[in-house]
Amino acid sequence: MPQTIITIRDDGSLKIEGTEFTLKDSQGKEYNLSGRQVISLCRCGQSENKPFCDGAHRNANFSSTCEAITLPPKS
Ligand code: FES
Repeated sequence: MPQTIITIRDDGSLKIEGTEFTLKDSQGKEYNLSGRQVISLCRCGQSENKPFCDGAHRNANFSSTCEAITLPPKS
């Protein structure tokens, strides 16, 4: 079964990997990822190539560490 994995990188981007994901803009238009099965999305807000990470988080000293939790049941 195809699986998409989203990894929250410490002090950095969201890494998305898999064969079954689609990235769309707010109008529903699909990004052409040219066959990529791994992309990184900016989480710091500093990228010049949003929504993709361009490494600017390093110069911005972006700091964020997220530990996996269990969400409460959906109400
Ligand atoms: S997370 Fe890398 S540029 Fe924002």
